Amino acid sequence: MKKNKIIVTGGLGYIGSHTAVELSEKFAVVIVDDLSNSTIDVLDGINKISKSKPLFEKLDLKNKDDVKSLFKRHNDAIGLIHFAAYKAVGESVENPLKYYENNLSSLIYILQEIDKLNHSFNLIFSSSCTVYGQAENLPITEEETIKKAESPYGNTKQISEEILFDYSKINSNLNIISLRYFNPIGAHQSSSIGELPIGVPQNLIPFITQTAAGIHEKITVFGDDYNTPDGTCIRDYIHVVDLAKAHIAAIENLIQSKNESNYDVYNIGTGKGTSVLEVIHSFMKSTEVKINYVIGNRRNGDIESAYADNSKAIKKLNWSPKYSIDDAITSAWKWERKIRKL
Ligand code: NAD
Ligand code: WQD
Repeated sequence: MKKNKIIVTGGLGYIGSHTAVELSEKFAVVIVDDLSNSTIDVLDGINKISKSKPLFEKLDLKNKDDVKSLFKRHNDAIGLIHFAAYKAVGESVENPLKYYENNLSSLIYILQEIDKLNHSFNLIFSSSCTVYGQAENLPITEEETIKKAESPYGNTKQISEEILFDYSKINSNLNIISLRYFNPIGAHQSSSIGELPIGVPQNLIPFITQTAAGIHEKITVFGDDYNTPDGTCIRDYIHVVDLAKAHIAAIENLIQSKNESNYDVYNIGTGKGTSVLEVIHSFMKSTEVKINYVIGNRRNGDIESAYADNSKAIKKLNWSPKYSIDDAITSAWKWERKIRKL
């Protein structure tokens, strides 16, 4: 039987590549990427472990004509997962227009092409727990009040969600889900694909694995005077393969379209909070590799605690995370060793 076709924008990136692999079990996948934050080698990794080889199209989604031609070539696609975006919070503060241009124009051009279709279409949007900032209530439900964004990057996610909500009201042929990811970590169990940060990583897990690989002498824990049990910040770290599978559950939910509304939002996290020190100790215990750490100052703009109430996704998407934080950390270390040839 012919498989339904799904377009995956940003499909050579960290989360997109893992999702493309999972999707290829059931769908014909078209990956679109401009390689602005990834390399073509990722495609080899995907091809090695995918059920069926995705098609790859190198194009820039902030080029309207490229988006038009993409939809012409793939007018048989039944859905699109929109990962493509810039994601570095600090860079978005330095260069907000770069972020507003890429993250918003790509979404608008995609919606303009969807608007021309005369068949039903399914769209999944990569949103983020960053839309909540420091939430008043923990765990964070989808009902939590959205406050002013802390960064232009975070603002692009808030605005994108608003664009999707407003547009959903006038196109009943389109079903949309925004997935608000918490902190994705880890790599595919085959170590064929994983996270490839450019430059010095800002995120905790790649900094830890690079420190263990000897690239950094030590890791600095950004503050131990927060109002948490050990004083360090708490996050909800989710294995990237669990996150990838949430997209399959979401697209299947949309295809079955049993929902009351054609726009919905889901938190995708494990529901468990883990502190920075717990992550470091879990790394040392599960890998038996010692890393040096020091306690430093708080990082500007850091949230004290954020972890998901994931019960809506569990109930309505029939999805649940399977991997523990130790599994995720071990897979991140296996990936780091592979790319460093250790
Ligand atoms: P990533 O940078 O690894 O992947 C994004 C991919 O999109 C890259 O391969 C990049 O080359 C491509 N891309 C960017 N702009 C493009 C354009 N104009 N045209 C074509 N391709 C383009 O990022 P990721 O970590 O995989 O994140 C994927 C999505 O999830 C992003 O929207 C991000 O904001 C969101 N998100 C990520 C995290 C996280 O911690 N990684 C958390 C929450 C939400
Ligand atoms: C986790 C914890 C740090 C590095 C970022 C983005 C957010 C979202 C998810 C996309 C924090 C601490 C880190 C280090 C440390 N992405 N840390 N030493 O801050 O939750 O969010 O990724 O939407 O928008 O901002 O993740 O991995 O940077 O930090 O102590 O060297 O680790 O202070 O408490 P964060 P992170």
